[in-house]
Amino acid sequence: MWLSQLRLVNFRNYRGLRLEPHPGVLLLSGHNGQGKTNLLEAVYVLATTRSPRTSVERELLSWRAPEDADLAAVSPAFARLDARVRRASGEIHLELTFEAERPTPNPASPGAVTRTIKVNGLTTRATGLVGQLPVVYFSPNDVDLAGGSPAARRQYLNLALSQASSNHLRALQRYNRVLLQRNQVLRLVRERRQPAAALEPWTEQMLDWGALILHARLQMLREMQACLASIFRDLAGGSELLRVVYRSTVLGSELATPDPPSTDDISAAFRERQRQLATREVEQAVSLIGPQRDDFTFMLDEVDLNTYGSRGQQRLAVLALKLAEADWMRSSIGEIPVVLLDDVLSELDPQRREYVLQRVAEPEPSEQRQVWITTTEPGLLAADHLPTSTQRFVIEAGQVQPA
Ligand SMILES: Nc1ncnc2c1ncn2[C@@H]1O[C@H](COP(=O)(O)OP(=O)(O)OP(=O)(O)O)[C@@H](O)[C@H]1O
Ligand SMILES: [Mg+2]
Repeated sequence: MWLSQLRLVNFRNYRGLRLEPHPGVLLLSGHNGQGKTNLLEAVYVLATTRSPRTSVERELLSWRAPEDADLAAVSPAFARLDARVRRASGEIHLELTFEAERPTPNPASPGAVTRTIKVNGLTTRATGLVGQLPVVYFSPNDVDLAGGSPAARRQYLNLALSQASSNHLRALQRYNRVLLQRNQVLRLVRERRQPAAALEPWTEQMLDWGALILHARLQMLREMQACLASIFRDLAGGSELLRVVYRSTVLGSELATPDPPSTDDISAAFRERQRQLATREVEQAVSLIGPQRDDFTFMLDEVDLNTYGSRGQQRLAVLALKLAEADWMRSSIGEIPVVLLDDVLSELDPQRREYVLQRVAEPEPSEQRQVWITTTEPGLLAADHLPTSTQRFVIEAGQVQPA
C-alpha cells in the first residue's frame, strides 16, 4: 500500500503542505530542525491517531497564529491532516482534525483539544481509522524500547496488533474499561460498601478480554521470532540468537513453550492466579495481573539486552524487531505496510545501511510499497543502493520541494 497524497494544515511547522508521492522510496533530506521528523510524525498520526513523540495533542498544532490577524482573533487553533491511501481494495481517504479551545489567558491551562476523525468522508472513532494505513515507524528514540520503560513496550505491542486487527483495538478498549470499573469496585469492596460478589462480573470480563489480548501478543511474538533472529544475525554478524521473551504476570515470567497456549488455557491460568491474589487485590484496590502489567525483554543468547545490552546492541535489536514487524504485518494483512525510517540510516555503517535499504525497498515490485526515509546527509546513501525510481525531496522550514 502507499500514500498517494498527504496534505497538512497548521501541523507543527507545516502551515500548508501538499505532497503527491509515488510508490517506492521517498528520500527526504534536510538540515536539523526543518521538519523531517514532523513529516513522518504526521503520517504516523494519520495511521494511529497518536504521535510517536508526545501525548500532548496541543503540541501538534502550529504555534504560529494565523497570518491574518482578524482571523487569529476569532478562529480557534486547529491542525488538519489528510491522506489518500492506495490499497489493494481501493483508495481510502483519511482526515484528522485537532481543534483547540480558544487559548485562555492562563498559560497553565491552555484548554482542551478535540479530535475529529473521518474515513471516506464519514465521521468515525479511532477503531475506524487504525488499520486503514498500517505503518512501521523507526526513529533513533526507539532504542528506548529495549532500555526504557515496560509501558513503552506494551504500547508497542498494542499498536502493532491494533494496526493489524481492529478487533484487537476493540478488545483493548473493552479491557481497559473493564479494568477501570473493576478497580473502582475493588475500592468499594475494600471500604465494605459492596460485597465481594460484586466483583464477579468484572473479573469474568477481565479474564475474557485479557486472555484474548495475551494470546494475540504471544502469537505475534511467536510468528515474528524466526524472522527477528535471522535479521539480527544479518545485522550484527554474529551467531548469537536474539529472542523476544514475553514476561507474563499471568503465565509466569519466562515462557518456555514455543507455541502459545490457547485462549481457554490462558483464561484458566488467569482465573487460578487471580484467585490466589484476590485478597491482595482488595487490600490494594487494584487489578494486580494481566496484560497491563506484562513486559518483554530482548535476550541475546542468555544475556538480557534490556538490562545488560550496550546501546549499539539495543539499537540493532530494536531495528531487527521493526524490520521483522514489517514482515509480520505483511503476512497478517496481506499487504506491505508503509515504512517510516526517521534519521536512522546515518547511525549505521555502510554495510548495515545497504542491508536495511535492501530489506525495505527491494525486491518486490515497488508499486506495492512505500518507504519514507529522512536524513540530514543524503550523500551517505550511495545511489547504487537505492532503486532508480527513488523520489528525492528537500525539506526546508516546513516546505517540501523535489530535489
Ligand atoms: N507546534 C509547532 N508549531 C510550529 N513549529 C513547531 C512546532 N513543533 C515543532 N516545531 C518546529 O519544528 C522544527 C522541528 O522539526 P523536526 O523535529 O521535524 O526537525 P527535523 O528536520 O527532524 O530535525 P533533526 O534533523 O534535528 O531531527 C523546529 O524548528 C521546531 O521549532
Ligand atoms: Mg528529526
